[in-house]
Amino acid sequence: MSRSSQLAVAALALIGLLGPGPGMPGRSANAAVQGKVDAKYQIPVPKTQRKIGQDEEKEFEDGKLKLKVLKVERTSIEISANGGAARPVPASTLTLVPIDEQTICTVAFLGKSGAKAIVAARCDPATDEARAAAEAQHAAEGTKAQTPLEVVTAAAKGTLKNPFADDPAAVEEGHQLFLANSCNGCHGGNGGGGMGPPLSNAVWVYGSEDDTLFRLVTKGSDELQAEGYSRKGRESVVGPMPPFGEIIENSDHLWKIIAFVRSIYKGDMARKNW
Ligand code: HEC
Repeated sequence: MSRSSQLAVAALALIGLLGPGPGMPGRSANAAVQGKVDAKYQIPVPKTQRKIGQDEEKEFEDGKLKLKVLKVERTSIEISANGGAARPVPASTLTLVPIDEQTICTVAFLGKSGAKAIVAARCDPATDEARAAAEAQHAAEGTKAQTPLEVVTAAAKGTLKNPFADDPAAVEEGHQLFLANSCNGCHGGNGGGGMGPPLSNAVWVYGSEDDTLFRLVTKGSDELQAEGYSRKGRESVVGPMPPFGEIIENSDHLWKIIAFVRSIYKGDMARKNW
């Protein structure tokens, strides 16, 4: 599970722990996750609700928290608390906002009323658990998924390694993504080859390393050759491999596709060097 979905589950669990108000997100998830929450880990659910328009600021908890809404979208808002840096508040997640050493506020985006956001918030004394949760949540916010092209552009040659190697769930998802991105049109539904070479044999045109495959699919074969790579393996089919670095949504997707490609390998296991 990703960090952000873990946090979302934790937030839903917390809502379950304390009982949601009417219209609070995550109500139906309560029963399933309630029992898993540490009884000490009590971050209370926001109580006061206000409607706040874009660029408007409203006070909660007798002015302890001044919430300015910077952006209102369908499933999230962006806020600034007490003049601090902008932070996203996705719907159905309790966002923890430390105010000072002693205080943590909890902010929830409950939905829209016209163009305004319905925001709930409350502030409480900061426990160690709440502080740790707030830090983890904040750290996860900045990690926007990168496209394969962004990853390749930033990484030195030879350094890319599949984080999903041998992960059965990733292989299965990778197969779906392989089909969804039309790789099967040239390589066959199970990667056995067609207009494009088979991906299951021991011949690797430009090399078998994770780094090389990631770059080949991202940039395509023409660009790869322009960067100095040459065909060292001979497949029965020779032609250009198109670039997918901005078509495949993010680098995790491409790694999962590569995990799938690894899973169909039918060559000599002794030649497996990835
Ligand atoms: C338009 C046809 C076409 C599509 C679509 C296509 N490929 Fe390819 N692919 C090729 C060709 C042709 C080559 C051989 C390139 C060469 O010889 O320079 C190749 C090579 C490869 C190789 C290296 C194979 C080897 O034996 O070294 C991999 C891996 C690969 N493609 C993965 C993918 C993935 C993943 C997708 C979908 C995101 C995809 N391809 C979509 C035509 C295609």
